[in-house]
Amino acid sequence: LANGELIAWTGKTDNVYSTISSTPEYKPTLLGSIPHMDEAAAMNVLDVACKAYGKGQGSWPTMKVSDRVACMDKFVAKMSTKREEVVELLMWEIGKSLGDSQKEFDRTVEYINDTIEDYKQLDRNSAKFSKRDGVNAHIRRGPLGVVLCLGPYNYPLNETFALLIPALIMGNTVIFKPAKHGVLLISPLLEAFRDSFPKGAVNIIYGRGREVAAPIMASGRIDVLALIGNSKSAIALQDQHPHKNRLRLVLGLEAKNPAIILPDADLDLTIEECLSGTLSFNGQRCTALKIVYVHEAVREEFSKRFAKRVDELKFGNPWETGVKLTPLPEADKPQYIQELIDDAQEKGAKILNEKGGNTTDNFIFPAVMFPVTQEMRIYKEEQFGPVIPVKEFTDIQELLNEIADSNYGQQVSLFGSDIKELAPLIDTLVNLVCRVNLNSACQRGPDVFPFTGRKDSAVGTLSVHDALRSFSIRTFVASKDN
Ligand code: G3H
Repeated sequence: LANGELIAWTGKTDNVYSTISSTPEYKPTLLGSIPHMDEAAAMNVLDVACKAYGKGQGSWPTMKVSDRVACMDKFVAKMSTKREEVVELLMWEIGKSLGDSQKEFDRTVEYINDTIEDYKQLDRNSAKFSKRDGVNAHIRRGPLGVVLCLGPYNYPLNETFALLIPALIMGNTVIFKPAKHGVLLISPLLEAFRDSFPKGAVNIIYGRGREVAAPIMASGRIDVLALIGNSKSAIALQDQHPHKNRLRLVLGLEAKNPAIILPDADLDLTIEECLSGTLSFNGQRCTALKIVYVHEAVREEFSKRFAKRVDELKFGNPWETGVKLTPLPEADKPQYIQELIDDAQEKGAKILNEKGGNTTDNFIFPAVMFPVTQEMRIYKEEQFGPVIPVKEFTDIQELLNEIADSNYGQQVSLFGSDIKELAPLIDTLVNLVCRVNLNSACQRGPDVFPFTGRKDSAVGTLSVHDALRSFSIRTFVASKDN
């Protein structure tokens, strides 16, 4: 699609199902369908995006800042009228609770508005001249070209837009592929895209990555690959590009964020933060706490109380009141989580909570596993779902080394009370990850703060402020005093 209008497809459609049943006897629900695209259709969309960029001379990349802002304002106003439809689809497509679906929508609107304000500020700053040795420099930021964006299923609206919006406002033209789960919720917004932007500025491809995104990358005509998801997909797409040194990457990838619980931690607070940190949206967040390290002095008490709290969480459909755990949108996820549990049990771990591992057709109840060792899959893999590994530690230095050896480096949650003991730990931890959360769960927001990671967790920084820079390049006009 180019700005919401179908320009190329195969004439076929693909059905979209929800793992939520609408009948008492379990049966996935057919929600709708999307155009089936193949390589030829994807290449047509690419042509449109490249033409709109016009080698930097198209109407969008050369548009005046105030006009581009007006397009964005128009879009966000039209988008805001679609809240109810999008929220409904978020619940059905990805199983996100009503409250969290509403938050995702509102957060996205706020993100766009903040981006518009920051973009105006950036423009005001670029009006200032720098001067050195008789040379005046009028520094500004310009677009990079054609951007391919791929968002994840856990935030199919918010994180897709966290890539798309900054890329677009900086004057790039964009092709985006909606997440596999959360693909239909883009449909209510197509009209807003069509009515707000010049043709070819925003384009959509549907289908399997290897059939539609891979050939677009292989064309060598993409300037920025922006992806939030797994590194396997990011590497596979990157590898398709014939001129890797020309390709800019903006990537939000996996993480295995640890909680560290010190002996003097306030356990009431720690347990509640670990509960939301590990299990909000069933643990399907890159920022989720994915392993809990607890000091031996409090391990028994923490584990017992934490396991009890997990069992108190209510499972149900997203629109039900008080529901904290909801159906998993990936039909094969319960099986994967079960495999992790089986592997850990074979290697000596036990399930600490009574309901842990209980399955229904579209869900597996979170299992708290202890003791977890480095040989277990649950120690190494980013589970991205409802299973919680707990590991005891005695020596904090050994634990810091273990965290330093991880392939990931996004965030950590540190729980303790004695600031004299915490301060040097924080100083070390900020060199191992990018955000240390003190006595609180890991999270991405507020979105004005930098969102990034070390090692395999990220490339580039996403936040309102940083994303504008990630999707642009500094250019300047120089003049001499005569
Ligand atoms: O999946 C990764 C998301 O960036 C998590 O965002 O911390 O706001 O839930 P969140």
